[in-house]
Amino acid sequence: MTHTHRRIAGACLTALLVVAWSAGNHVTAQTGASTTPTRIILGWAGSPATSQAVTWRTAAAIATPQAQVALAVASPDLAKTATTVAAHSTMVDLYPSGTVYHHVARLEGLRPATRYLYRVGDGKTWSEWLAFVTASDQPAPFRFIYIGDAQNGLADVFPRTIRAAYAQAPDARLVVDAGDLLAEGYDDRLWEEWTRAFGFVAGSVPNLPVPGNHDEHRAPESSDAKKVLAVSSLWNAHFSLPTNGPADLGSLAGQFYFLDYQGVRFICLDVNPFANEDYVEAERAHVQASVVAWLRLALANNPNRWTIVVQHQPLYDVSKDRDYPEMRAALGALYDEFHVDLVLQGHDHAYARSFKLNAGRRVGDTEPGTVYMLSVSGSKMYAVTERQEGRMAKIIEGIQLYQVVTVEEGRLSVDSFGADDGRVDSFQIARAVGTR
Ligand SMILES: [Fe+2]
Repeated sequence: MTHTHRRIAGACLTALLVVAWSAGNHVTAQTGASTTPTRIILGWAGSPATSQAVTWRTAAAIATPQAQVALAVASPDLAKTATTVAAHSTMVDLYPSGTVYHHVARLEGLRPATRYLYRVGDGKTWSEWLAFVTASDQPAPFRFIYIGDAQNGLADVFPRTIRAAYAQAPDARLVVDAGDLLAEGYDDRLWEEWTRAFGFVAGSVPNLPVPGNHDEHRAPESSDAKKVLAVSSLWNAHFSLPTNGPADLGSLAGQFYFLDYQGVRFICLDVNPFANEDYVEAERAHVQASVVAWLRLALANNPNRWTIVVQHQPLYDVSKDRDYPEMRAALGALYDEFHVDLVLQGHDHAYARSFKLNAGRRVGDTEPGTVYMLSVSGSKMYAVTERQEGRMAKIIEGIQLYQVVTVEEGRLSVDSFGADDGRVDSFQIARAVGTR
């Protein structure tokens, strides 16, 4: 409460000063909108070994958006050794009203496996200095955090999940977010809650999100009769993501991409076109065909030891009596053919983890196959209605969770925790005999 009051008081003081200055200089009334950076989120510009991207918001336009980056040292004189990188600004209209400015700086030419500090601003008003670590340019062990749907409870019970995950794995190199970040993707008030929940973690650990169905919700007064396969403009305002998706789906940037990180290929897929029926059919069919062709190439031309797919709707549902046979036929066949190791999903508002499966059937631990998981981090819970007998090794209802995945040369280890930090599931995946 005290913190909130202080912020409000500061904003009012700024507005008053601007009005006073304006009156004295016969300048048209100013809004008092702030140039202070908010919502600082790390993403990607290119190779994670040599680049990093960062996005942030200001309420007011800024003339010279920029970032400064320096090798991490204990001296406070960071600006002396920092390199300044010009950023790019975009004006974003908000729902239900208002205009803000999002900025993206692409930090390139960085050293692999190196800790940096950075700040963002306009050359006068700056953020604090935040840290990140670049990836090694070789396969090497690392950990990452995976969360399922936040969606609800963003301002009350979700923040503790993020803090618990970060406390459990402060060395996590990225956060994989399996979609439905918000209940209504168009609503900036919910983005405010989501970014507050992440706090400095979003500026310290890069985010790899995929859109869920809620992330593509239209505003209530939208004239679209059918669903439109596109995220809200707020998605790409907040996230800087790889731009290596299907070449003919350029308008859907930020919805399909892959990232190679220290021996893992993360393939991030918007599977809404495979799961929902009420799109314009021609668009849906076109997107499906493009994604399948692109996915085949991303799986076939993959030099990494491990392959992890991130998607929202699960191939094997456990709740709400949902079933996506079209998605299983199109995507599951490719996961089987190319030995995808792990598929990280959400949507069912429960926790489920399969045995290693091939063509939908359980296989031995040393045989080629895929483990499918779904999880939930927010407050909405569904009852499990489909046990997937013979497929699921673990099902849990009614708790918020986060997962820590440890990548090593010979195995993937997954530890699933309740939001109270109790470990509720733990398993390992070894490379199958005869596979890469
Ligand atoms: Fe969902």
